[in-house]
Amino acid sequence: MQEQYVIKGGNPLVGEVEIGGAKNAALAILAASIMTDEPVIIDNLPNVRDINVMLDAIKDVGAVVERIDNHTVKICAGSITSTHIDTENIRKIRASYYFIGALLGKYNNAEVALPGGCSIGARPVDLHLKGFRALGAEVEIASGGIIEASAKVLKGTHIYMDKVSVGATINIMMAAVMAEGKTVIENAAKEPHVVDIANFLNSCGASIRGAGTDVIRITGVDKLHGTEYTVIPDQIEAGTFMVAAAATKGDVLVKNVIPKHLEAITAKLLEIGCEVEEFDDAVRVVASKPLKHTSITTLPYPGFPTDMQPQMTIALGLSRGTSTVTESIFENRFKYVDELTRMGGDVKVEGNIAIITGVSGYTGARVNAPDLRAGAALVIAGLAAEGITIVDDIYYIERGYEEFDEKLRALGATMEMISDDKEIRKFILRVS
Ligand code: UD1
Repeated sequence: MQEQYVIKGGNPLVGEVEIGGAKNAALAILAASIMTDEPVIIDNLPNVRDINVMLDAIKDVGAVVERIDNHTVKICAGSITSTHIDTENIRKIRASYYFIGALLGKYNNAEVALPGGCSIGARPVDLHLKGFRALGAEVEIASGGIIEASAKVLKGTHIYMDKVSVGATINIMMAAVMAEGKTVIENAAKEPHVVDIANFLNSCGASIRGAGTDVIRITGVDKLHGTEYTVIPDQIEAGTFMVAAAATKGDVLVKNVIPKHLEAITAKLLEIGCEVEEFDDAVRVVASKPLKHTSITTLPYPGFPTDMQPQMTIALGLSRGTSTVTESIFENRFKYVDELTRMGGDVKVEGNIAIITGVSGYTGARVNAPDLRAGAALVIAGLAAEGITIVDDIYYIERGYEEFDEKLRALGATMEMISDDKEIRKFILRVS
């Protein structure tokens, strides 16, 4: 039977929480680690499902993967025997596309299975493919959803991105690292994880300048060498706990973060009346006053992250007045709204805008996690709600949050991961 989170809401979250490494940075760094024949040690990896799927795919093509501990791996890709990636699980994760850039960049050849549509929207890869073609590769979408890319030589070039895309920027960067000559990527994504992958590649001997600005300049090098690298803290995991503190009227010190990466989230929490204190590598969120309404539009970094949109909507749903949230990155990211409505939320969606009328509280209900971040958001709603909330399909949440329930319990949440109806009844009896 599937596991669920069963939550008895109503407690403010209070205490300290330690944030892990950034999932979306780590996924790309793992793919990039096969671009050198020498050993690479990667530290501060989150121990979540998507990361393990990526590691399995790396093993599958013949690299040696050694788990040093829960958060550290050593990868030696000198023994790779194939550039064809199609493991059972790889089709379930978007980050599989990073293997195209990595394999093409190193071996001038890649055949990688990609997932189909995704619950948050169409998730096209046209910009990735356009970039590979500009570098001189021939790219085809073969039957079975396999992308085949190959090149005699990759040649540096000038690439203008029609749309700001995190995935395409990273992928093109990887493909260009060992191309002949110079590559310039204009209108590049500026997300912290773009910078992290550039730093990782540079620590392997690449020459990438300008990551974190909208023009990235890459000078091709002959080969990459081994390295030891620590992944940056997860901006979205941190933001999720910050918003959980706000929605439960709590007081949480979120540790092991880079406060600069959280500025957009901090700004919105300040606007709605929270206190946010920044330290060198921590932020403290205190929600002692009633929350106020505001307007948010998701935008590429340094704008408000789309991956924080569902969580923030939960907090706005408990704020005084009417708020709006405009989703400008992915078209289908309000699927959790129906679930929230069943918990007493008052949210109307018109196109890509959610209009949120604050209510005085949510009530517990049985809800489904429609995707990773929306799932986390519904857990926050459950923590803030009166009564019992059961969140189904937490598989999605486990893809991106390590020990989510343990960390929340340490902050005073009453919740458990349960897979059995009898156990659910026992939990409810115990906490009521
Ligand atoms: C990455 C993250 C995802 C996060 C998103 C935004 C991974 C594996 N995924 O996704 O969790 O929600 O950044 O921070 O790290 N687009 C195109 N053509 C393309 C590529 C993208 O039109 O070839 C569009 C998308 O549909 C979207 C926008 O560009 O509207 C931004 O997408 P992008 O930044 O590429 O997101 P991902 O890299 O897919």
